[in-house]
Amino acid sequence: MEEYSREKARHFCCIAAVTLQVVAAEEREEIMRLILASLVGISVGATVVLAQNLDAIKQRRDTMKTIAKASGVNFKMMKGETPFDLAKVKSGLQTFQEQFPKLKALFPEDSKTGGDTDASPKIWQQRAEFEAVIDKFIADAKAAAGTIKDEASFKAEYPKIVNSCGNCHKEKDGFAPRLADSFKKLNQ
Ligand code: HEC
Repeated sequence: MEEYSREKARHFCCIAAVTLQVVAAEEREEIMRLILASLVGISVGATVVLAQNLDAIKQRRDTMKTIAKASGVNFKMMKGETPFDLAKVKSGLQTFQEQFPKLKALFPEDSKTGGDTDASPKIWQQRAEFEAVIDKFIADAKAAAGTIKDEASFKAEYPKIVNSCGNCHKEKDGFAPRLADSFKKLNQ
């Protein structure tokens, strides 16, 4: 009787062990699958977050570069370093009107740091004021495009545009560094 029980117990144990092994193998697979899935999930999530950040920063810096290059052409003309050219002036003013509206969408919450950004934290703290400065710039560019007809009106009106850059690019506490420093970055 005792012998029989022991035999039975051994038999049971054997089945249990085999079953456990199968279950364990399945479980192991399931666990591996879960781990893999979450790892993929984490890395996809991380990529998306990083991509959002760096993408927005790159895009706004590229937008500012386009604006700054157009501005540079006209600025040289204003200082008399290059001959007056109405078509170029108008094209620059057009570029401002096309590019500035893009900026509003390029400062999402997750783009405050990274990507060698010079954007001040003030942009996110004083959002309404920042957007008002963008709107003012667009309005100034539009007004200038309407008023500038020749060299004299260009020389009278264009300094207003340059001043409008200064509503963000201030000596200190601006939404962006002083213009001279931003231009240094542009030429790097
Ligand atoms: C509405 C605010 C605002 C106005 C107006 C503005 N800028 Fe900027 N600008 C910025 C911000 C913010 C940055 C920094 C972007 C970053 O690094 O993320 C910047 C960056 C720059 C850069 C550096 C680009 C680079 O290489 O990263 C230059 C050059 C520049 N601005 C020139 C100008 C000029 C010229 C004007 C006027 C025609 C102007 N900006 C008007 C906000 C403004």
